[in-house]
Amino acid sequence: MKLLVTSDLHLVRAWRVTVLEALTQWVREASPEALVVAGDIAVAAEADTVLRELRRIFPHGPIIIALGNHDFWGGALAGCRTLGATIERFWQVPAERYNVTLLDKENFYSDELVFVGGYGHYDLGFAAPGLRYEGKMVTREHYLRGRPPIETPLRWRDFDWMPGVSDVLKIAHAQVEAVQSKILATGPHHIFLVLHTPPFEELLGVPDASMLDPEDPPIRAFFRAYLGNRAMGEMLRLYSEQIAGAVCGHTHRAAGPVDLGGFPGFNVGSDYGAPRGFIVDTKEPTIGISSITELVI
Ligand SMILES: [Fe+2]
Ligand SMILES: [Fe+2]
Repeated sequence: MKLLVTSDLHLVRAWRVTVLEALTQWVREASPEALVVAGDIAVAAEADTVLRELRRIFPHGPIIIALGNHDFWGGALAGCRTLGATIERFWQVPAERYNVTLLDKENFYSDELVFVGGYGHYDLGFAAPGLRYEGKMVTREHYLRGRPPIETPLRWRDFDWMPGVSDVLKIAHAQVEAVQSKILATGPHHIFLVLHTPPFEELLGVPDASMLDPEDPPIRAFFRAYLGNRAMGEMLRLYSEQIAGAVCGHTHRAAGPVDLGGFPGFNVGSDYGAPRGFIVDTKEPTIGISSITELVI
């Protein structure tokens, strides 16, 4: 099965046309059999518009998506208290209308593979250890509020827009459990894993935390905590023989394809208005690294 895999399209008005043009070109040139998007498609209120656009560009085959943190933005404003409520309120009906599979809700079964995944969230597990700014130690409390301990306009913006986000670890844990139960439901089938949030350090696409200058770390080092879900990766290791390949997004930094201990994985690395896409040729029993090819625009 030939998959067109992308992520972080962020189809908000500013660059919707540019990104959709790239996607149209890839579909025309590569003739994929399915379209896979690893989250951050737009924001909750745009769900109907963007799923309609994806279906217009890819009219016939399966469209399989995992949601991203931005896809929940605005849920709280509409009275949704949880990620699940935001999916029900904004994504479920358009997904049915345009025949799009939401991996956050259900697996997608093809003849060769089962597509399993979902959002993922961050569990602070990839935070840079011992981080301090101007002598002030970064504590868990800072991470749970999305703000470093010094004066800066920078903050992790999910805390303003995402429902229930003050309970970071609870969401992360629930996401691990949800993905695990979806893996257990697949039986013996091989799995193509689609997560928005990277589950492995190799997929963050940022320099190793040990490269940071402990005396003067850049402010971006604080935000490393929000890049991935370490517990998700630990859970996935239990099923590595069943996983044929994995894709993620979220950090806007490309990584891989790399061998993640028996299966290849990569981070798409799209950025705002600068999408990246890959063709993944799935062949039983596993997807090789050489069957993951980047598309150009
Ligand atoms: Fe993104
Ligand atoms: Fe994201």
